[in-house]
Amino acid sequence: MAGISRFGISLPGNLIEKFDRLIKQKGYTSRSKAFGDLIRQELVKVEWAEGKEVAGAVTLIYDHHKRDLLTKATDIQHDFQKVIISTQHIHLDHHNCLEIIAVKGDPKEAQSLMGKLKALKGVKHATLSMSSTGKEVV
Ligand code: NI
Repeated sequence: MAGISRFGISLPGNLIEKFDRLIKQKGYTSRSKAFGDLIRQELVKVEWAEGKEVAGAVTLIYDHHKRDLLTKATDIQHDFQKVIISTQHIHLDHHNCLEIIAVKGDPKEAQSLMGKLKALKGVKHATLSMSSTGKEVV
C-alpha cells in the first residue's frame, strides 16, 4: 500500500526513553524516520536471507606486496562476474590497498564471494555491506 499510514504503538516507558536518547544521538529529528529505518533494516536482512536480488559492497584491506594474493583475488573475482558490477582499487599507502567491490545479484553468491576473498592469506580486514536494490524496501 502506497502513501503514509499512522498507527499507535504501546511500549514500556523506559524503553521509549532509551529509544529517544539513542535516536537523538544518531541525529534523527523524528521517531517516525528512526522507526521506519529499523523496519527497513529488518526487511533488508530478510532480503539477504531469502531474497533473489540484493546490492551491497565488499571492502578489503590487504598488503599488495603479497603478489600471490593479488593473483588469487583476481581469479576469484573472475569467477564471480555475475554478481560483481564494479571494483575500485585505492592505494592507501606504500603497503596497503583498499578494494571496494560493488555487488548486485544473488545474495548467496555475494556472500560466497565475500567468504572466499576474506579467507585469502594476506587480507587484513574484509567486510560485506549488506544493502538493498531499493526495489523491495520503500
Ligand atoms: Ni594498491
